[in-house]
Amino acid sequence: MYDIPLLTDKEMGNLGKSLQNLVRKKSRKTRLPFVTLKFAQTLDGKIATITGDSKWISGPTSLRFAHQLRSFHDAILVGVDTILQDDPQLTVRLVKGKNPQRIIVDSQLRTPLDSNILKGKAAFSTFIATTSLSEVKKIKEYQSNGAQVWVLKKDRANQVDLQNLLHELGKRDVRSVLVEGGSRILSSFLKKRLADHLVIVIAPKIIGKGMNYVDVSTLQRFKNLNSFSSPKLFRSGEDVILEAFLKE
Ligand SMILES: NC(=O)c1ccc[n+]([C@@H]2O[C@H](COP(=O)([O-])OP(=O)(O)OC[C@H]3O[C@@H](n4cnc5c(N)ncnc54)[C@H](OP(=O)(O)O)[C@@H]3O)[C@@H](O)[C@H]2O)c1
Repeated sequence: MYDIPLLTDKEMGNLGKSLQNLVRKKSRKTRLPFVTLKFAQTLDGKIATITGDSKWISGPTSLRFAHQLRSFHDAILVGVDTILQDDPQLTVRLVKGKNPQRIIVDSQLRTPLDSNILKGKAAFSTFIATTSLSEVKKIKEYQSNGAQVWVLKKDRANQVDLQNLLHELGKRDVRSVLVEGGSRILSSFLKKRLADHLVIVIAPKIIGKGMNYVDVSTLQRFKNLNSFSSPKLFRSGEDVILEAFLKE
């Protein structure tokens, strides 16, 4: 029987080192950041319940792993609806390690000014990627809190053009980005083939109705599918972690 290895500290260290190499390689070749998509899903492929609750999908060991993974990246990125639903801090608290820069993708500045991510000193490492749909007056309110607001190109859906965002991050020496969700942001990265690396925490739970991690209707043809190679599996408490890389 195939035995799935435990994700030990040594394996975690190896993952960190191999990431560093891949990040360096991509940066040298393209000047663009290396993009990891990471999320926790149930056995039936859901990343949140029907009401948007996603807090208790993965177990405590995987949560520690998630914080370690954050510390391996220069920046962590989420969509504005994850801020509205979860009000996360997006910091490294459960392991030793640096806090990445925090990026919210928010085309019309819906991020509440009293979000955890904008409280106190945290605001100074928070970047909001928005579009010209946002009012200048509103942009100034976030800036006076200490956050940086970048007005970027719009895509066809009038949302933040993610390719443009990655270019801007590359220019600012951000060499790796951890995309933590939610579903719409993950779908956009996949649809535009902007992901390099996929990390899925699979929890032995079934939700039934809930939020799929990717909106498959955005992938209209098989030729546009994202295929991943070199998969690795690890056990993490009761969860299983799958790691794979986008096929060229
Ligand atoms: N299980 C997990 O690992 C995990 C992780 C994170 C979140 N979640 C769950 O996911 C849910 C939130 O997911 P969601 O799909 O509703 O929202 P989301 O992906 O967090 O945010 C989507 C929003 O981002 C903005 N956006 C701007 N540019 C975009 C672009 N190019 N592509 C896509 N979105 C863009 C859009 O709002 P504007 O048009 O207003 O800009 C869009 O509605 C929550 O329930 C949360 O708990 C689960």
